[in-house]
Amino acid sequence: MAQLSYVSGSVGLITLQNPPVNVLSAATRQGIMESMKKALNDPKVKSVVICGQNGVFCAGADIKEFGPNISGPSIVPLIYDIEVANKPVVAAIEGSALGGGLELALTCHYRIAHSKTRLGLPEVTLGLLPGAGGTQLLPRLIGIPASLELITTGRHITAAEALQLGLVDHVTQSDTVDSAVKFALSVEGEPLDSRRISKRPCPHLPDLDAVFEAVMQKARALQYSFFAQRAVGRWSMPSGASWNTSKARPVHRAAVLGLGTMGRGITVALAQAGVSVVAVEIQEKQLNEAREHVYATLERGAQQSGVSPSCANITYSHDIQAVADVDLVIEAVLEDLSLKEKVFQQLSAICKPGTLLCSNTSSLDLNCLASQTKNPELVVGMHFFAPAHVMKLLEVVYGSKSSPEAVATAMQLGKKMGKISVAVGNCRGFVGNRMLKPYIEQSYFLLEEGATPELVDKALEEFGFPMGVFRMSDLSGLDVGWRVRKEDGLAEPVGTSGQITRLRGGRRYSPLGDILCEHGRFGQKTGLGWYQYGRPGGRVAKSDPWVFNLLEEYRARLGLTARPIDQQEVLERCLYSLINEGLCILEEGFASSPEDIDVIYVFGYGWPKHRGGPMFYASMVGLATVLERLDHYYRSNPDVPSLKPCKLLRQLVASGSPPVHKWKEITKKIQNRL
Ligand code: NAI
Repeated sequence: MAQLSYVSGSVGLITLQNPPVNVLSAATRQGIMESMKKALNDPKVKSVVICGQNGVFCAGADIKEFGPNISGPSIVPLIYDIEVANKPVVAAIEGSALGGGLELALTCHYRIAHSKTRLGLPEVTLGLLPGAGGTQLLPRLIGIPASLELITTGRHITAAEALQLGLVDHVTQSDTVDSAVKFALSVEGEPLDSRRISKRPCPHLPDLDAVFEAVMQKARALQYSFFAQRAVGRWSMPSGASWNTSKARPVHRAAVLGLGTMGRGITVALAQAGVSVVAVEIQEKQLNEAREHVYATLERGAQQSGVSPSCANITYSHDIQAVADVDLVIEAVLEDLSLKEKVFQQLSAICKPGTLLCSNTSSLDLNCLASQTKNPELVVGMHFFAPAHVMKLLEVVYGSKSSPEAVATAMQLGKKMGKISVAVGNCRGFVGNRMLKPYIEQSYFLLEEGATPELVDKALEEFGFPMGVFRMSDLSGLDVGWRVRKEDGLAEPVGTSGQITRLRGGRRYSPLGDILCEHGRFGQKTGLGWYQYGRPGGRVAKSDPWVFNLLEEYRARLGLTARPIDQQEVLERCLYSLINEGLCILEEGFASSPEDIDVIYVFGYGWPKHRGGPMFYASMVGLATVLERLDHYYRSNPDVPSLKPCKLLRQLVASGSPPVHKWKEITKKIQNRL
């Protein structure tokens, strides 16, 4: 299971041979031990390279051997023997080095990795700790904070990150074993003491307790997130209907109406879940493009997961009559109320009795759509996120007449499609987008007051969002919000001269986003937004002096003086206003629990998982602190209602800031009083 060969005159090459991923079974351990012994005793061998067969270094321990009676040599002395060897030992790491595989690499004196390698200590995901030196060697090599993060999350890292952390010595794009052999030749005869990681002192950290406390908090948040994901399946509606009293109907055949960005992704997700799909699109060109796109996406997906594509399950049509005998329809036509109302009238007339009618609308009132049908109890929202076949979150929106059975069916279908489905009430923007509004609004206000898009994004990205608010807005398209603001009568033409007004209906309003759109800057799709992207569709954001000039001119026109704004203020204003909106949603009963909100934010909006979600984060920061800061900002911005702390927040603080799982008792009391 491990073979010794001789290469380049003086290098002993030990190849792990335990397909498919060279796990450290008893026979493999025995093989490594014997090969090492032979190589070290052979005077012709001046250095050793350890690699794995079939492009994989080693995926760790053999889980089949877990249990009290492990046979064969233990891994610990084997690893010790490698470290004390008096000839340089180089790990040639390809594919993956995980768990015991990474520990094996850590005992080698040098590590050369291929650029596509993944490394990590995933033991924690199996309820274990690295037991073959990983907890001792890794901190000595890359420091305590980075090691704690890797060990407690089990996260896999890329070769590039491993190089940056100092976990590997060199990353190669070419043949890893060749590179490692050349490297081994170059270090033959050199002293090895400094290369033996266990001999290094453990790094000293003055604030060790704080580092451990931060890690404990992360671990607590991850644990919370895990249980929250399960809790959202136990949904309930204000009527008292819930998951355990409502039966889902089977959905064998579904229709998707409108094959634009969303409809295509939804079609893919349904087909991948084994549901037959009738895909309807009125525009011939869109229909053909969608057919190709769906086919290619399914092919790619099938190749990646090694299964056969499910194209046979999809029929395409440009005639809405084709949906007549499906069990469920998901409407994904343009976001236009009168169009959708007409579509729902048609669906109600065409579909067989009992067909569930779902809308993917992100902002329209579900009750208006339901009122167009003969059976409003069969109408629910299924709000997917783009790209719909990738994003995990599904908001299942119940209107005032939606039946528990309809909600149960949409929740069940979401589950079948691999989504994390959360049942929410029918308020403007539902839960996710409603909370996003004050977050974006604050980011605009911060620009008016002196911040730059870079400063705001940096604060949010360091907090853990994959993208700051401006980068994210550029990606989703600035024109979408502009259209909604125009429809709401908020966005007025600003032009290059004349009066800019910053109040709408007595509330502070920033027209900065509208100004960008007036200049045709819609984000990545036009190549220009809050950043510049080089070309339409470009993805790499670069600072744009045009935006800085705009901000300066804008402030000058309004007589505003820019003031220094720090990251703390960015976080407090953007995140606490979002949290406050979430608490309003709970207070009003549009979400039934804080877990629902947190899951929506982690799986739909990039909220960092290790911070649990906005509600959990608020409880970690301390609800009293959140309340005090909101009070503070609201005092200086009385025309910004989203900064006014909501009743529930005050009530929670007055009740001694109970932990998240106890909030329900208080929300219930408030809801009963409303
Ligand atoms: P889109 O503009 O890309 O696609 C809409 C498609 O519907 C077009 O191909 C259009 O020809 C077709 N269509 C219009 N009337 C039709 C009819 N009567 N029958 C069949 N097809 C018809 O729009 P997109 O972005 O896919 O949005 C669709 C819905 O999804 C909207 O309600 C939107 O608010 C919602 N949504 C969009 C998200 C996004 O990120 N784009 C995210 C979540 C929801």
